[in-house]
Amino acid sequence: MNAPATAPIPVFLDCDTGVDDSLALAYLVSSPAVRLVGIGTVSGNTSSEQAARNSLDLLALLDAPEVPVAIGARDHLRKTYNGGVPHIHGTNGVGDVDLPTSPHEPVAGSAARLLIDLSHAYAGDLHIVAIGPLTNLALALREDPTLPSRVSAVTIMGGAALAPGNLSPVAEANIGNDPEAAAAVVEADWDLTIVPLDVTMENVLHEADRLRLLESDVPGARALGEILDLYFDFYLPTYGTRSSALHDPLAAAIAAGGVIPTLAPRVPVVVDTTDGPGRGQTVADLRGQSLGAVDHPGVRTRVVLGTDRPLGPHLLDVVTAPARRNAPVEV
Ligand code: BDR
Ligand code: CA
Repeated sequence: MNAPATAPIPVFLDCDTGVDDSLALAYLVSSPAVRLVGIGTVSGNTSSEQAARNSLDLLALLDAPEVPVAIGARDHLRKTYNGGVPHIHGTNGVGDVDLPTSPHEPVAGSAARLLIDLSHAYAGDLHIVAIGPLTNLALALREDPTLPSRVSAVTIMGGAALAPGNLSPVAEANIGNDPEAAAAVVEADWDLTIVPLDVTMENVLHEADRLRLLESDVPGARALGEILDLYFDFYLPTYGTRSSALHDPLAAAIAAGGVIPTLAPRVPVVVDTTDGPGRGQTVADLRGQSLGAVDHPGVRTRVVLGTDRPLGPHLLDVVTAPARRNAPVEV
């Protein structure tokens, strides 16, 4: 893999680690285009505490134990944590695989605090990649409304523009688990890229890909192959073969520039925070888009509806590369 022409992007990852979150974390740590400078965790696939443990253990396996991990919100803004989705991500979030326990512990302070601190340390350059419910970002915006002025971009995995939801008929899980937080993130004044189910469900890993991970010389890649086993079972009825949607790693790869959006109009997006059947829906104004992307003037939110290449092969190349992990960034 060639070295990137530009300096690595400092990235704060907010996640509910999580099988596909694990793929995203490994991608960001392994991509030469990125330096992962901090991780915040939130409840979703598993609790925020367990997500932090999983993140620390993965970082150790990936030779990047120095990345600070902060435990974020256990409960969502209007709802207490419901116990996660053990039938999808396992009781421990990482497919019931026992990862070697890292000796590292979470840093003191909340995920929101770590994000705010990093926004000062990397002012103007920090890119947020959020791949769980958006509670921590909403709390950070509450604590420091000037946060967006120091953040270069935000990329989230979440929502469903024209595709059906996966938590409800219209709500995707990350948005539907905390619609109030998602609304705050969508309403904030920053460059926001939404990577919805419309594109993440189109990017898939297959059993042959999982075998390539299991046969890799890179310990972290082999762990990913094991972690994916249970997730492949969950997606069997959806795809007809044991395979996995690549929700979170697609957002990571788009943030890193490894996958380029080819259809991503900047359009108004509203999150439904009512208590009706539309709760958690991302309502994107895609009227008049049939001839290609038409950006609405002044809108800073883009919704990814098409990309330049399938993520799977690129993801495997990046996470199995024996390159040095987590390239340093110049400040
Ligand atoms: C999203 O929900 C979580 O379960 C996955 O990790 C992903 O972030 C997909 O809807
Ligand atoms: Ca996730």
